[in-house]
Amino acid sequence: MTIQHAADLLSSARRGLALTGAGVSAESGIPTFRGEGGLWTRYDPVKVASINYFMSDPAAYWKVSKERGGVALAAKPNPAHQALARLESEGHISAVATQNTDGLHQDSGSKRVIELHGSGRMVECLDCGHRESRAQVQKRLDDEMPPRCPACSGTFLKPTVILFGEPMPQVAVREAFDLAGQADVMLVVGSSLVVFPAAEVPLIAVRSGAAMIVINAEPTPVDRLAEVVIHGRAGEVLPEILRAMPISA
Ligand code: OAD
Repeated sequence: MTIQHAADLLSSARRGLALTGAGVSAESGIPTFRGEGGLWTRYDPVKVASINYFMSDPAAYWKVSKERGGVALAAKPNPAHQALARLESEGHISAVATQNTDGLHQDSGSKRVIELHGSGRMVECLDCGHRESRAQVQKRLDDEMPPRCPACSGTFLKPTVILFGEPMPQVAVREAFDLAGQADVMLVVGSSLVVFPAAEVPLIAVRSGAAMIVINAEPTPVDRLAEVVIHGRAGEVLPEILRAMPISA
């Protein structure tokens, strides 16, 4: 049975690595980008999430960001985040590499979180470098569009997320690639695996000998390389796997 097989693989894992995407936060109420109801079915990502678009019209960028940011800031971790934190505290996975910028892995207790696409919890002024919390900026978006820097009045306040056209955070990518190269089990949860270099992480792990488990609502391009594929909701499947492991006793 696939749940038991995944549980057995994770029970014996000592250097497992998880890679998560938007699907892991879907049950926290944050819309995914692709797939059913995905954000990118309503917006063109290359447009609204690109650095060129942001630089040419910060207000237009913030109008979309206001909507998504409000939802993300109010969101709470779900059982999928909690299960991943437990797998780390029990010593089965060494880290969670995530494409998410919502901070929910940290909120659920995961200690080593590698943010491949940055963090949406902070905002930085591109003129003077002043940083403040995203929550602080969110509060004034009804009155200020685009938001202004409280230090220099600049209008290029950018969440510390990686936009299309920006360089990837090299330290985070290197760390994820290194852990993938050493992983005994690769656990992929809630990612369409179409955005690189994040999508490279499971490929490195499998090439280096890891057994891969994929949990996703829909098929992914790496399913055929996986030892276990479970198509379902992360917040239901992961707790079920944990219940089938000796740690739940
Ligand atoms: P996507 O939105 O591309 O993919 C999310 C995947 O999760 C889809 O395959 C869904 O079928 C699946 N899914 C949805 N709900 C789920 C659930 N409850 N349980 C399990 N799976 C579920 O998200 P990412 O792969 O994370 O980048 O997208 C990668 C990057 O594309 C994002 O980080 C973002 C975006 O453009 C940037 O903004 C740079």
